[in-house]
Amino acid sequence: MANKNKFYVTTPIYYPNDIPHIGHAYTTIAADILARWYRFKGYDVFFLTGTDEHGKKIENTAKKHNKTPREFVDSLIPKFKEAWKKLNLNYDRFIRTTDKDHEKFVQEILQKVYDKGDIYKGHYEGYYCTECEAYYTEKDLENGCCPVHKTKIEKLKEESYFFKLSKYQNRLLEFYRENPDFISPSYRKDEVINRVKEGLKDLSISRSSFKWGIPLPFDKKHVVYVWFDALFNYYSATRDKNKEKFWPADVHLIGKDIVWFHTVYWPAFLLSAGIELPKRVFAHGWWTFNKEKISKSKGKVINIDELVRIAGSDSARYFLFRHIPFGEDGDFSENALVERHNNELANKLGNLVSRVSALAEKYGLKEVNFKKINVDIHISNVVRDVSELIERFEFDKALNLIFAFIDTLNQWVQDKKIWETGSKEDLFELATGIRLATILLWPFIPETCERISKTFGFKISLSELEKPLKVIKIKKSEILFKKI
Ligand code: MSP
Repeated sequence: MANKNKFYVTTPIYYPNDIPHIGHAYTTIAADILARWYRFKGYDVFFLTGTDEHGKKIENTAKKHNKTPREFVDSLIPKFKEAWKKLNLNYDRFIRTTDKDHEKFVQEILQKVYDKGDIYKGHYEGYYCTECEAYYTEKDLENGCCPVHKTKIEKLKEESYFFKLSKYQNRLLEFYRENPDFISPSYRKDEVINRVKEGLKDLSISRSSFKWGIPLPFDKKHVVYVWFDALFNYYSATRDKNKEKFWPADVHLIGKDIVWFHTVYWPAFLLSAGIELPKRVFAHGWWTFNKEKISKSKGKVINIDELVRIAGSDSARYFLFRHIPFGEDGDFSENALVERHNNELANKLGNLVSRVSALAEKYGLKEVNFKKINVDIHISNVVRDVSELIERFEFDKALNLIFAFIDTLNQWVQDKKIWETGSKEDLFELATGIRLATILLWPFIPETCERISKTFGFKISLSELEKPLKVIKIKKSEILFKKI
């Protein structure tokens, strides 16, 4: 049997120290869009998400809740799964770094890297922000505080094992040169390369002052640095029997704040372990809320219930990917979401479906020879363009293009005065156009598209577009998007 193309997409694994918010949803929806799209094209897809459960940060938060770390994370995982269900995210595996298979795998890798001589014992003395789970140098600090959290930073002095990161500096630079698409958007690439050129220091990869982590197999007094543990989730998830073919990952989707971990530490760990490197890392920007940083301390967090409550799951999904180019920062506001819900989803798509289905109920459809169909000229172009845009992660442009096509269809109803002519042939063409728009929109707004497909009686798949629309008895669609 011919080998099917494969597509492996991952999201960061999130710290389950609170319920998920819009920032977590953003990457996970993007992965869902890509997974749906590649499945559409017949690829064998693996979509991985999950939670990053070890480390001091989780241990501290658990303590505040009077729970053991295990009890605490166990109480939060259902919240993540419920949230992803509300947003219709169809992941294939939800990995937890406390999963036994992952823990065992990380220990095997540690042993391997240790045996190779890339890990040695020493003393770490320096700064560590537990909120970031990251090391800082004196130079990085702002008035003695963490540059990200602006909170007072811990000074650590403890026995630690180090990973020989410095050894990989040249090989990393060579890898970036040979794989110019590894880091994108490209404007994030130069920063990484310049910093790597400045030199890499060996990395402290174990802690001995707390217990909530994976013990080093060669020294059980230490637990491994949480990022070493976490990054390997992407690979360990593919060590299942029929998942092996998915490595290397086709794309790791991440936020811009964790580029360094994914484009320096991660490839260096893999090089040391002798594992092939992932193909791409794509970093998106950050959402602010009414122009302010989304932060728990200031009380500006949009959790998934709130996000979905505004206008429903599909409108939230649509808004996040239509409003700003994937990669750039953007500002979230309820007003902006409601405006797009009303003006684009309700007035354009909703209206088109409601008008055409009402007219089709009244007059019926009559098949037009597929080759002669007017909307046919659009079909192959639109599919090709949308496909290219989605595969370049230009989701806003893909949506824009589909909506330009929806505008054309609305204009057509208007120009041809279908409500006067009752032309069954025109209605057939319009329904064929709706089918095209719906199928292409499905990765973005699946719930709505499934409703439209029922009204017009077509299947949601790309190959459906090669066949004439089946003429069925159509009933006027219920309202797809209630205006707010
Ligand atoms: N656990 C690490 C990731 C390990 S991956 C091997 C982590 N977790 S996190 O929960 O703090 O953040 C996860 C992601 O959420 C990051 O990619 C981050 O960029 C993203 N976001 C957090 N707040 C965000 C916004 N306000 N806007 C967009 N994304 C944001 O980091």
